[in-house]
Amino acid sequence: MGILLGVDYYPEQWPEKMWEQDAERMKECGVKLVRMAEFAWSRLEPEEGDFRFEWLDHAVSVFKDRGIQVFLCTPTCTPPLWAFEKYPEIIQVGTDGRRISIGIRGHRCMNSPVYRTLCERIIRQLVDHYRDEEAVIGYQIDNELEANHCRCAVCEEAFRDWMKEKYGTTEQIDQAYGNSVWSGEYSSFSQVKPPMGDFIKWQNPSLTLDYNRYASDSTVAYLEFQRKLIHSLDPKAQITTNSWLCENMPDFYDLFHNLDFVSYDNYPTTMIPTDSQELYSHAFHLDLMRGILQKNFWIMEQLSGAVGSWMPMSAMPVPGMIKGYALQAVAHGADAVIHFRWRTAVSGAEMYWHGILDHSNVPGRRYQEFKELGQTIKQLQELDGSEVVNRVALLYSSDNEYGFKLQHQAEGMYYLEQLKCLHDGFTGIGVGVDIIDERASFDGYDIVLAPTMLIEHSGTVKKLENFAKQGGTVLLTNRSGVKNLSNQCIMDSLPTIYKELAGVHVTEYNAAGARTGKLRITDAQLRGQYGQICTNSFLREDASSLQTEHQDATYKRWCDILEADTAEVLAVYGDQYYAGQPAVTVNTYGKGCVYYVGTVPDRTFYMALASRMAREHQLNFRDDLPLGVEITYRQKQDTAWRFVFNNSDKPQSISLEGNICSLKPFEMKIDKICAKGKRI
Ligand code: GLA
Ligand code: ZN
Repeated sequence: MGILLGVDYYPEQWPEKMWEQDAERMKECGVKLVRMAEFAWSRLEPEEGDFRFEWLDHAVSVFKDRGIQVFLCTPTCTPPLWAFEKYPEIIQVGTDGRRISIGIRGHRCMNSPVYRTLCERIIRQLVDHYRDEEAVIGYQIDNELEANHCRCAVCEEAFRDWMKEKYGTTEQIDQAYGNSVWSGEYSSFSQVKPPMGDFIKWQNPSLTLDYNRYASDSTVAYLEFQRKLIHSLDPKAQITTNSWLCENMPDFYDLFHNLDFVSYDNYPTTMIPTDSQELYSHAFHLDLMRGILQKNFWIMEQLSGAVGSWMPMSAMPVPGMIKGYALQAVAHGADAVIHFRWRTAVSGAEMYWHGILDHSNVPGRRYQEFKELGQTIKQLQELDGSEVVNRVALLYSSDNEYGFKLQHQAEGMYYLEQLKCLHDGFTGIGVGVDIIDERASFDGYDIVLAPTMLIEHSGTVKKLENFAKQGGTVLLTNRSGVKNLSNQCIMDSLPTIYKELAGVHVTEYNAAGARTGKLRITDAQLRGQYGQICTNSFLREDASSLQTEHQDATYKRWCDILEADTAEVLAVYGDQYYAGQPAVTVNTYGKGCVYYVGTVPDRTFYMALASRMAREHQLNFRDDLPLGVEITYRQKQDTAWRFVFNNSDKPQSISLEGNICSLKPFEMKIDKICAKGKRI
């Protein structure tokens, strides 16, 4: 299919006479795909059982005539008002036990049998209608699915069934949860209910974690109901759903397991963060998305203008950003970049979430840049079939994220932070990272980063042990091995199940929160590398990460005060009552080694550590990358494409094969290199 440029389009929001001009302009920009209809239920079925496809047929033909393909959506995120009026039981119930107000979106109960019937009917009609339309190449299921947190009677029963299935008896639940605390023991299944009320964090964390697992499973079941239905009607249809990162995320890996590819809504910030560690956060999200199915993915919605509406408007993307961010997605494995949205809405709640065109419909600066993007993408068609291949894996786990969210461990500390720090450390030295499920295979990797393994998964421990035994490098961090699968604390010194692997144990811990402390690097090689990165950044004058004159590193958030059993000490704390005690260690394990990072060090430290690990495996890395510049590769057989992207709002220059390459803010340089016999 090539690399596709697309837009999200809402024909139902514009007079029919505008469609042709819109499609003409899209064609002029190089658009090859439009996504439509995810909110169009009231137009497709204005009254129960009365289906109207003429308008959508017309829209599809307008695009088809101009060589633009269509990705349709099941419109189930926004049931029409007649459905809510007729069947109020399809409206979601909140944690206060009340049905939530209609008029918004996404407020339907995914488990409601009536809603499922309504969904089935419209999906059958839609897919039957477009099955033989060659311009329609696939379906997006619903829109930005969140974990189903509906508390209606049907959902309460569904949760109870989930619990029965998992535990069999209430005694088993009591044991798994430690329900003797606060007289929480169940005497009957009728008392097993989803956590309610405003004080969810006062509920037993074992219950809340299970509830989150159930809520994820519930959404996955809803998605599967739609997927099976579509596939039964049109086996050749490509099916996905558009994911995002929200408070109540379903488990990505379960969600996409049976889908054809991952798609993601990518809205990188238009305000360049002052925190250097946040600079690469879009790169992080893209790597997270590619890692879900460990293959290329799509961007279903991509930043096109200032975002806003229910919050103050952000800054407009500055020149270069629209094009740069879209190409950055391609550099990280996106095969389609669909921009949200073609034109800014003139009505509805999202009228300040800007598209490529403004309300005026006059093509402006962003339109011109989008057109330029189209020309670049046209030249990138040979990338088709190329993939991102990395030797470093970073483990993500939905359980760990939920566990952490439900009980924050220290001020300012959150699950993704340690993942982002590690990702940033490797990105900062030009080494690519795949973010993968902790349940995935580690084959093909040299280094596995396993931060914050809060909740024990014995399978992961075994895999990490085998990986290290066979010569792999593992990195573990603080807050690992803390909980069992029921979210109860494990009664052993930390990191409990990882102790042997790490060769250390924690004698005491201290939540440092936002306070910054000193870290003394005792290992000569690491200290040298740290100093080198500081010097390089100082020479480049982007010295935001330059540390004190003694080149002491810093830490924040958390301190595991370690005692090395078999491990070697790399850094010790430089302050507090634990000054001089180990903070970072490395242990030889089989043919490999295992790092343990007991705290959350600064960016330069992560880069120095990443360099040390990369060197151990002869991975190419560099310690002279300016802040914000990233290097990624896509490969196909013996050819590789190198993407050098300036992710910052300042001009940057780097040396490539001895030549100085200058990059404007948000500029992407792509070149083709021969990868034959080479390790990229
Ligand atoms: C999400 C949704 C879109 C739109 C945009 C902008 O990504 O999927 O429908 O609401 O956000 O807010
Ligand atoms: Zn419900």
